[in-house]
Amino acid sequence: MKVGVPTEIKTDEYRVALTPVGVRELTERGHDVIVQAGAGEGSAIDDVRYEAQGARIAPDAPAVFAEAELILKVKEPQPSEVGLLESRHTLFTYLHLAANPELAQGLCDSGATCIAYETVEDDAGRLPLLAPMSEVAGKIATQAGAFMLEKPLGGRGILLGGVPGVAAATVMIIGGGVVGLNSAFIAIGMEADVFVYDTSIDRLRELDIALNGRCSTVFSSTLAIEEMLPRADLVIGAVLIHGARAPRVVKREQLKLMKPAAVLVDVSIDQGGCFETSRPTTHSDPTYQVDGITHYCVTNMPGAVPVTSTYALTNATLPYVLALADLGVRAAVEHDAGLQLGVNVAGGHITNTAVADSLAVEAVSLDAEFGLAAPMH
Ligand SMILES: NC(=O)c1ccc[n+]([C@@H]2O[C@H](COP(=O)([O-])OP(=O)(O)OC[C@H]3O[C@@H](n4cnc5c(N)ncnc54)[C@H](O)[C@@H]3O)[C@@H](O)[C@H]2O)c1
Repeated sequence: MKVGVPTEIKTDEYRVALTPVGVRELTERGHDVIVQAGAGEGSAIDDVRYEAQGARIAPDAPAVFAEAELILKVKEPQPSEVGLLESRHTLFTYLHLAANPELAQGLCDSGATCIAYETVEDDAGRLPLLAPMSEVAGKIATQAGAFMLEKPLGGRGILLGGVPGVAAATVMIIGGGVVGLNSAFIAIGMEADVFVYDTSIDRLRELDIALNGRCSTVFSSTLAIEEMLPRADLVIGAVLIHGARAPRVVKREQLKLMKPAAVLVDVSIDQGGCFETSRPTTHSDPTYQVDGITHYCVTNMPGAVPVTSTYALTNATLPYVLALADLGVRAAVEHDAGLQLGVNVAGGHITNTAVADSLAVEAVSLDAEFGLAAPMH
């Protein structure tokens, strides 16, 4: 299989979808790897290291797309990349289509098979290709929130951990999955007063054990959230319903319950955001204010720490990349029901039910050729 790795072009994105480790595994199995010149630069990997493991370097993205059959990326394709996709391509990357109908349409029009990292599931129903980036984003969420609470950055001017004789700040984390757990780890480490909200009691039980009782766990409801908002200095939104648009857990009218210059960090922004007043921001311009509340809504938080994130991501994606390359896309997907859930677009149609529901279109199941088949429901 010819495997292509273009340079990421989303604003402030420095990760790359394959490291020299992956190139070596692919070339040893007889596959061709084509890497765009400079693709690894943002993650401190130069072209020479790719070439040393058998990759060929292509001058630009059109050259990579022209030659490769399997395209590996990190973030959703930008308009110029969508224009390069054809029906012979398989794209393997984060897509987050539930909140992006325009991109969904563009990918359908291309005819390509598009597999989204974030909807691939493992045997236990977990999200193995979202988890490593959620670990990173969860840790950044608390760091960024702590920073944005500083007065010169427009925050309340409170130190997360307080000092002897002065109370710590209150951190409220809504959604206690992988992001929430990691945000809580850092907030507890910084000695804040931490509350984690989730609608799954089983998950709250796990958190209580994992965090050794060092934070409060709360069953999430509209009233429970409303009662805590007046106390919170930092609110981290980290809810997820697999494949779907994020539920809105804080409405605009509830912002007036909060302390002036408190901070909201919406990690779920890549799924459309879990606060009503959220809109996507970038690392270059990460925050804005609504009703006196700072909003931090960066859609690619792990992109800020590429030297960590590139390796964390590619450790998780490589086994799937090898399966796709070794077996071919069709057999790999037939062989692994969890990978099949990752196929969001094929044959010009949306093929993942949750994604289709969020986009208000009908999901079409995959037939053996990835073409049109019977509707899924
Ligand atoms: N912005 C970024 O750069 C970035 C990076 C990584 C992940 N993310 C996003 O962060 C979000 C969370 O990811 P995750 O890996 O932690 O997911 P996860 O599935 O591990 O956890 C989500 C949690 O939300 C809970 N939940 C669902 N609805 C809820 C509600 N109404 N109230 C309270 N809890 C609710 C679930 O029970 C679950 O425990 C996802 O949208 C993911 O795409 C964003």
